[in-house]
Amino acid sequence: MITIIVAADQDLLIGKAGTRNGMPWDNKEDLAHFKKTTLNHTVLFGMNTFKAMGMRALPKRHTILITHQDYQNDKVEVRHDFDEVIQEYKNKQEDLFICGGAGIYKQALPVADTLLLSRIPGKHEGETYFPDFKEYGYTLVETTPYETFTLETYRRGATC
Ligand SMILES: NC(=O)c1ccc[n+]([C@@H]2O[C@H](COP(=O)([O-])OP(=O)(O)OC[C@H]3O[C@@H](n4cnc5c(N)ncnc54)[C@H](OP(=O)(O)O)[C@@H]3O)[C@@H](O)[C@H]2O)c1
Repeated sequence: MITIIVAADQDLLIGKAGTRNGMPWDNKEDLAHFKKTTLNHTVLFGMNTFKAMGMRALPKRHTILITHQDYQNDKVEVRHDFDEVIQEYKNKQEDLFICGGAGIYKQALPVADTLLLSRIPGKHEGETYFPDFKEYGYTLVETTPYETFTLETYRRGATC
């Protein structure tokens, strides 16, 4: 299963340059949800997000880094072809979590099965937005309230 996992505010803002981890907010509950959901699975990041995370792999997760560059890091699996990775995980029917950023999400929206969107209340400052995903056929199938955000689960192709 290919799952997009993202946290966004009411306007789909997802990123702010210059913050500690690239996020426009400091939401520990959402970070805990991200960790619990992705632990012991494979996570995939674009190079800008990897840089915003301090060029570090997340513990207890296999990390795939997508870049055009000839970059080497023995803590992550560096790949240059996003579509090839998607096809590989579809073929072996293994879970793959798409963890951003915006450039990666845009490529994943037409091919993912599930979208896990942590809706952070309010408007925040930043410059990177999650793409408008209406056109890709995602249906909201579940809404789970947390104390500081609401988890919206969407499935592509599902009908209510
Ligand atoms: N709120 C959230 O849940 C969340 C989650 C993740 C990220 N973010 C935020 O999103 C922002 C970063 O997003 P972004 O769109 O600027 O960058 P990004 O998607 O993280 O990375 C883009 C880079 O990934 C590489 N790449 C992308 N597609 C590729 C492909 N098909 N083949 C090879 N390489 C490819 C390229 O790297 P090279 O230039 O090295 O070739 C490209 O410049 C940050 O602010 C981050 O904090 C937020």
